[in-house]
Amino acid sequence: MVTDYAEIAKDVAALGAPPNLADYQALRADWNWDDIIAELDLPGGSYNLAHECIDRHANGDRGDKIAMIYEATDGEVTNYTFKDMQREANKWANAITDLGIEKADRVFFFTDRIPELYFAIFGTLKRGAIIAPLFSAFGPEAVMERIRRAEGVMVVTTPNLLSKIDAIRDDLPSLEHVVVIGHRQGVEAGEGNLDYMEMTEGASEEFENEQTGSEDWSVMHFTSGTTGLPKGAAHVHNAVIGHYATGKHVIDLHEDDIYWCTADPGWVTGTSYHMFAPWSNGVTNLVYEGGFGAGRWYEAIQRHNVTVWYTAPTAIRMLMKAGVDSARQRDLSSLRYVMSVGEPLNPEGVLWGQDAFDLPIHDNWWQTETGAIMIANYPSVPIRPGSMGLPFPGIEPAIIDDQFNEITEPDQEGQLALKPGWPSMFRTYWNDQDRYDSRFQGGWYLTGDRAKRDADGYYWFVGRDDDVINTAGHLVGPFEVESVLIEHEAVAEAGVIGKPDPVAMEIVKAFVSLKEGYEQTPQLRRELMGHARQRLGPGVAPREIDFLDSLPKTRSGKIMRRLLKARELGLPEGDTSTLEDD
Ligand code: PRX
Repeated sequence: MVTDYAEIAKDVAALGAPPNLADYQALRADWNWDDIIAELDLPGGSYNLAHECIDRHANGDRGDKIAMIYEATDGEVTNYTFKDMQREANKWANAITDLGIEKADRVFFFTDRIPELYFAIFGTLKRGAIIAPLFSAFGPEAVMERIRRAEGVMVVTTPNLLSKIDAIRDDLPSLEHVVVIGHRQGVEAGEGNLDYMEMTEGASEEFENEQTGSEDWSVMHFTSGTTGLPKGAAHVHNAVIGHYATGKHVIDLHEDDIYWCTADPGWVTGTSYHMFAPWSNGVTNLVYEGGFGAGRWYEAIQRHNVTVWYTAPTAIRMLMKAGVDSARQRDLSSLRYVMSVGEPLNPEGVLWGQDAFDLPIHDNWWQTETGAIMIANYPSVPIRPGSMGLPFPGIEPAIIDDQFNEITEPDQEGQLALKPGWPSMFRTYWNDQDRYDSRFQGGWYLTGDRAKRDADGYYWFVGRDDDVINTAGHLVGPFEVESVLIEHEAVAEAGVIGKPDPVAMEIVKAFVSLKEGYEQTPQLRRELMGHARQRLGPGVAPREIDFLDSLPKTRSGKIMRRLLKARELGLPEGDTSTLEDD
């Protein structure tokens, strides 16, 4: 373990970009959210993410600045200025207003990473409706559950994903409109669907934004818990304060940066940091449509002169596998700052960044519910490899015990909690206020993560406090997977756990017992894998399924995932006093 932290802390100032956050302790001591609010535009006291991210730049000095560099999968590059973004977003806002989309309606996005996605997202926010993006690797069941929970009225999709919507449409009475963005492939929307191009072609390029206030709904992302199906964590326009502030002080965005966040728009990093943080800071943002590939990613950095790069530990571990030479062969000298989020970043990953890019990788921590970064390593502060870093100024985390008392002694493990009230905090789980309320106890927001704080105030991740699985930075709720498995005619019971994996951190692993008359054959296992994959999609379905004659249960009949996991890992089984007798 490296202890000479200062040794590996890159002097960002020496690279010609003095950090926005020059003196962490001073800023933390003096922090006032009003200073940040004063840097926003907020016309007439209204708050609107689209105004802060697009209009204020389009109407001001950055109108002709490139907002989005779009690189398509075929390598073609198109640039869009802030004025272009505004014009296209306005057309969409007009089109959906004509269709009758109203303030706070839920509009879902289930698309590839193409420019129209961004135009439509900002146009929807302009209208005052709620955007709800979905991961494109979800299967129809996963999509249906989410749209149903939020009573979505519209889904915007691309031709390659349309069959998944067709499969569930009849089961979604709230879903009035399916919009297909097909013109890029020359594909028509199909009967019963709306065509993006036809909707927007003749639409006015002017639009007066809905006068949303700071507490009006803006964004919904679904996230998983131990029990129940995924919940829609809903945010308000006030969150832009957090996106802008962390974009400035953690992401360290400067006027001339070329920024790239690799997150998929279907997850919260894909909105907060792939869209809102860079654009609220008026920065040029790379949208790279393609998927992962070490060589292709490095070439994208080189081709577009990316300066600030935000990615995830699974991707970093995949880059590590591709070898340091793969990075060294390219000219990546434009990079000045690299960050990671979503899972613990091992110390080796931090240091590997130093080898590959001459830059350590800065880890930071937050959640769907927090809306923005809460704990971070900063360019001006020495990194502690393996630590999530120090609290963002204005954020008050704590380590608490089971009675919700703060543990002040250093290096003690407890639950990570946050003092509620930060601007980007979620405001509800849609249609599930009880569950929302249960996350706030003893004056704290309970994160569900376990952590420690060292004597210097750095936070260290220990693990989840629940059964939620973190696979490649994406949270999967075991219940959602179990529910689909037991729908199969052969399955009597299912228990799902996260199995440690050297690259993805965890993979989804299922244990099933079969009904009378079914045999534990490799063919049935394959069939179950196919069933889960088809229904849930590759992003959620189990990668491994084991048969058991019966699953360990408590006397009240609850499957003991903890025990399944302990047995899988060969760990002590802990307290089994509530285990059902065989
Ligand atoms: O368990 C923590 C893990 O990911 C969870 C949040 O996931 P999600 O709501 O999908 O939000 C994604 C946006 C970051 C956390 O509760 N996690 C996130 N960042 C880290 C992390 N675990 C360890 N270290 C991190 N830096």
